[in-house]
Formats: sequence, C-alpha cells, structure tokens
Amino acid sequence: MKLKRITNTPEDTIKLGTEIGKKLQPGDIIALKGNLAAGKTTITKGIAISLEIEDEITSPTYTIISEYYGKIPLYHMDMYRIEGSEEFEMLGADEMLYGSGISVIEWSERIEEYLPENHIIIDIQRQDDCSRIITIEGLEL
Ligand SMILES: Nc1ncnc2c1ncn2[C@@H]1O[C@H](COP(=O)(O)OP(=O)(O)O)[C@@H](O)[C@H]1O
Ligand SMILES: [Mg+2]
Repeated sequence: MKLKRITNTPEDTIKLGTEIGKKLQPGDIIALKGNLAAGKTTITKGIAISLEIEDEITSPTYTIISEYYGKIPLYHMDMYRIEGSEEFEMLGADEMLYGSGISVIEWSERIEEYLPENHIIIDIQRQDDCSRIITIEGLEL
C-alpha cells in the first residue's frame, strides 16, 4: 500500500520524519528517492528525532555513511558519490544493511542490488513552490 502526504515547509517534512521514525524497527531499511534538494536529508532529521539521536544530522554526501547512536543506531547513507559495489563493501555498508540498526539511504538506486526485497521506500517530489509530495511504501503510519 502507498501512503501519500504533502508537506509545505521543511518543518512539516521533519515532522513527517518523526512520525515515520516512531514506526521503525531495528533492521529496517529505507530507500529515499527524489532529486537534489528534494528533502531527503531533511526528512532524515525527523527520523533521528524519534530515535532520540542528539547529534545534528548533516548531509553524508562526502562521508557517504554517517553513524548515529540513539535508541536504535542510525546509518545514514548517501550513495550519490559511491564509485561502485567494491567501495560499498569496503565501507562495510553491506554489513550495516543486514545488522540491527536502521539504514536510511539517499540515492539507493546506485546500490539497488544490495537492497533486500523487504524495504521501505520514501519518494519525495519537489514542486515548484515549497511543497513536497511524499509517498511512503512498505510502512503503515
Ligand atoms: N516542504 C519542504 N520539505 C523539505 N525541504 C524543504 C521544503 N521546502 C523547502 N525545503 C528546503 O529544501 C532543501 C532540502 O534539502 P535536503 O533535505 O538536503 O535535500 P536532499 O537531501 O534531498 O538533497 C532544504 O534547504 C530545505 O530547507
Ligand atoms: Mg541529502
């Protein structure tokens, strides 16, 4: 089933992220889809709030993976700059995916072959104004 939400501000998107975060279980994997500046990192900030992470969530574009420790570990990944599957495995990312933390992956299209069938998909579409159309698949809110 697909759930559709519209947010009008970054704060709305963070709030939706907290709603999502409350429903997550250890081991869950979220594929975050949407163009540059759609709000993928913004929604992750909300997820982190629900996981009681106190560190600030920043874009992992250059680090590729950021680990945060709250109620459940959060692995925030951004595959935009990943060179290929060798780099992915060298970073230990494949093991994180199958561990008991929560993985949130921006640009997951690039490592699609590592995604188990059972993952959550959040797609964020930027509109001409500040609104975002956000669809959620694989998670009930
Ligand atoms: N409704 C909205 N939801 C999320 N972000 C928004 C919204 N409106 C404006 N923005 C802005 O869009 C940008 C989204 O950036 P970011 O979350 O880093 O995107 P991404 O990780 O998808 O590249 C931020 O500067 C944010 O303030
Ligand atoms: Mg981002």
